[in-house]
Amino acid sequence: VPPFMEPFRIKAVEPIPFPTAAERRDALVSAGWNLFRVPARAITIDLLTDSGTAAMSAAQWSALMVGDESYAGARSFERFETVVRDLTGYAEILPVHQGRAAERILLGLLLGPGDISVSNTHFDSTRAAVEAAGAQAVDLPVPVGPGELNPFGGDLDTGRLRDLLRHSADRVKCVVLTITNNAGGGQPVSVRNVKAVRQLCDAHGVPLFLDASRFAENAYLITEREDGYRHLTPREVARVVFELADGCWASLKKDGMANIGGLVALRDAGLAARAREQLIAFEGFPTYGGLAGRDLEALAQGLLEVTEPDYLRYRAECARWFGEQLGLAGLPVLQPTGCHAVYVDAGAMLPHIAPQQLPATAVANALYLAGGVRVTELGTLVFGRRDPDGGPDVPAPRELVRFTLPRRVYTLSHLEYVVDVAETVSSKADQLTGYHIVEQGGALRQFTAVLRPA
Ligand code: F0G
Repeated sequence: VPPFMEPFRIKAVEPIPFPTAAERRDALVSAGWNLFRVPARAITIDLLTDSGTAAMSAAQWSALMVGDESYAGARSFERFETVVRDLTGYAEILPVHQGRAAERILLGLLLGPGDISVSNTHFDSTRAAVEAAGAQAVDLPVPVGPGELNPFGGDLDTGRLRDLLRHSADRVKCVVLTITNNAGGGQPVSVRNVKAVRQLCDAHGVPLFLDASRFAENAYLITEREDGYRHLTPREVARVVFELADGCWASLKKDGMANIGGLVALRDAGLAARAREQLIAFEGFPTYGGLAGRDLEALAQGLLEVTEPDYLRYRAECARWFGEQLGLAGLPVLQPTGCHAVYVDAGAMLPHIAPQQLPATAVANALYLAGGVRVTELGTLVFGRRDPDGGPDVPAPRELVRFTLPRRVYTLSHLEYVVDVAETVSSKADQLTGYHIVEQGGALRQFTAVLRPA
């Protein structure tokens, strides 16, 4: 029996589809073997992402009704601004429609050709924004050996940052800590690491920003794992972390607990003024930034709910239990688990499939075929590098699949079903085959690629 239960009850429900095995196969073939192209109506349990998939609370649904849709200076913006200022301590608050808009605006202002952005790991959209500015995205995650249990596997490797700053400080225009480190297994970044990175940034005059898309989950994991912070509330820890940085951006489709939204929050009024010019040009007037007034209301309420200790405890316990169960079902689960997802090492599960034949995609597609479960591939399809001369892809550092947990959406019995499906797949892992890429776009190729079984 799991040692926790959902700290909410269900008020509105939505039926889920149960396509047959033949329908699933047809759907996947029509989708070019790419789960991003499979329609949601053909998915039974959708663990593709925790982004924009949250169930809103009764308080959020009622907040929608009082949304102020004024073009300029809406009351809903004032509420959003107050909540975000209170949470982060930053004075300058800009709403945007989602995280990548924030990245494009801020990184576009900070970076130019030849510059470097350093991160524990740039998420794929973050990297795309860095590269769109003509700059280079350098990932310096702490090394975590196979089987090693690092409670703060999301930390940035400060030794390598020191070396890089020593040699190329003039080119490094920002350091970004992604909290939690989504691309690196959803692991938290410790306060200790944020402080060490801050010191190095100060020594070289480089600004430090947070990609705070999962700030509340990061803060909760700190209260569980880091000495000196166990007695603080997640909200207090989040504040400690925000105070160490010059600003942040976030996709509020995650810890904003709503279905759309994002923000840029800064200390520097000059930088914020330049960001607002970009906001007006590409997103909308600075008091709505591409969102409806009702979205800002729902986000303001969501940002209050997301730091509730009961909710965060449930979230972390749920991921831990789910990870244990997937492990018992025979899947190589990355430990420790974080909050928003359980990551499985598809490379270890399918050692007979070369990275260029996409073992993570093979696991993801097998889960869909076996039970209509959709997970995300975070392997060579997403993070591999194409060879400019048409040779084989440079493989991603790891072949992962992510069983992502939408917030407040699925119950334990849904997850038990996923564990059963995963067990079926793991029992015949040696029979799975890989994929070739038949068609692909440029950056973010995973969303549109067409594949073919190898
Ligand atoms: N930063 C992080 C750490 C993210 O995880 C994401 C999105 C973004 C930025 C971009 O935000 O989607 O609102 O434009 N992650 C989603 C995911 C897509 O599935 O992990 P966005």
